[in-house]
Amino acid sequence: AKDMGDDLEKVLVTEEQIKARLRELAAEIDADYAGKDLLLVGVLKGAVMVMADLARELHHPAEMDWMAVSSYGAGTTSSGVVRILKDLDADLKDRHVLIVEDVIDSGLTLSWLAGNLRSRGPASVEVCTMVRKPLAFEVDLDVKYIGFDLPNEFIVGYGLDYAEKYRNLPFIGTLAPHVYR
Ligand code: PRP
Ligand code: MN
Ligand code: MG
Repeated sequence: AKDMGDDLEKVLVTEEQIKARLRELAAEIDADYAGKDLLLVGVLKGAVMVMADLARELHHPAEMDWMAVSSYGAGTTSSGVVRILKDLDADLKDRHVLIVEDVIDSGLTLSWLAGNLRSRGPASVEVCTMVRKPLAFEVDLDVKYIGFDLPNEFIVGYGLDYAEKYRNLPFIGTLAPHVYR
């Protein structure tokens, strides 16, 4: 389609709702990490939007670092196989780490990642995600900051892709079935 709008079914979370929720989460994070050294770890590529917007709502002088892992390949379902494509630059020893994600779907990426980062001797590891989907409840994961709990639909936008597209939608919506069928 020439226009991304042609490929969407409905909007689930508007740009305004995202911004308002991020402001609330940032206030919580500012309070929780006051006086502490905070490192935000964004998971490429989906977390780029939430990292950029959350970081700008913070008053805390947090640092940002990035990791790239692969779990999905080009398909639409999680394989459970996680591989580091780009590791962090920062040493996590004694640091307060906040993993920033766009979505927790099966929870496989995050449970692996949280375990991996915890093995590096950090002071703490917590998780902030824009979206959590219901499957994630089946994995033992402690997610401290959650933007929105959404149903198990095929969603795109605000970092979430389908075959690498639609990440640049400023809102979160469902993809029309004709696109992925
Ligand atoms: C997506 C998403 C999360 C992960 C969630 O990333 O951004 O990182 O999958 O899925 P899970 O809870 O089922 O593991 P993806 O691997 O598609 O890479 P991307 O961020 O580059 O899109
Ligand atoms: Mn991702
Ligand atoms: Mg993806």
